[in-house]
Amino acid sequence: MNFKKLIRVIPDFPQEGISFKDITTLLKDGEAYQAAIDQLAEFARKREIDLIAGPEARGFVVGTPLAYALGVGFVPIRKSGKLPAETIQATYDLEYGKDALAVHKDAIQPGQKVLIADDLLATGGTIATTIKLIEQLGGEVVGAAFFIELSYLNGREKLPGVDVFSLVTY
Ligand code: PRP
Repeated sequence: MNFKKLIRVIPDFPQEGISFKDITTLLKDGEAYQAAIDQLAEFARKREIDLIAGPEARGFVVGTPLAYALGVGFVPIRKSGKLPAETIQATYDLEYGKDALAVHKDAIQPGQKVLIADDLLATGGTIATTIKLIEQLGGEVVGAAFFIELSYLNGREKLPGVDVFSLVTY
């Protein structure tokens, strides 16, 4: 499956100089969406996993079908102020901008093995922060799986020791 052909590239969005990788064109193709999740599941099945964690919002689109395919639970990593129960938070820099992520304190039990899922690895800030949150709760990050990796932004360097899988690389 040529996933790259199904990803629409929008120049200068959301600001000049950013080449936006739009996965909506892949998501609306049922066969491609299923094949993409299947490939991530194949990577995931080689590991022992208790939970999938995915950052809002596009991480939900990748993480929840993956959790369903593996028969494990899903932990939403949300932008600040969205989760209703007690949370821990961490701030991070985006490819464009700054934000804070949060997770429920009781979402992960110490020792649980967590695979992170998201649509895109860019600067790695989102995933580095997600890892911080998971580890703060005592979880063990066993890998990170993406549809897309922007290798020119060197996101992997922010994730030392993390087993990274990406379907498509730019
Ligand atoms: C995008 C994308 C990743 C993150 C990657 O999400 O879905 O989560 O940025 O960038 P990074 O590697 O430089 O951190 P965004 O924060 O735009 O949120 P959204 O999914 O809600 O649009």
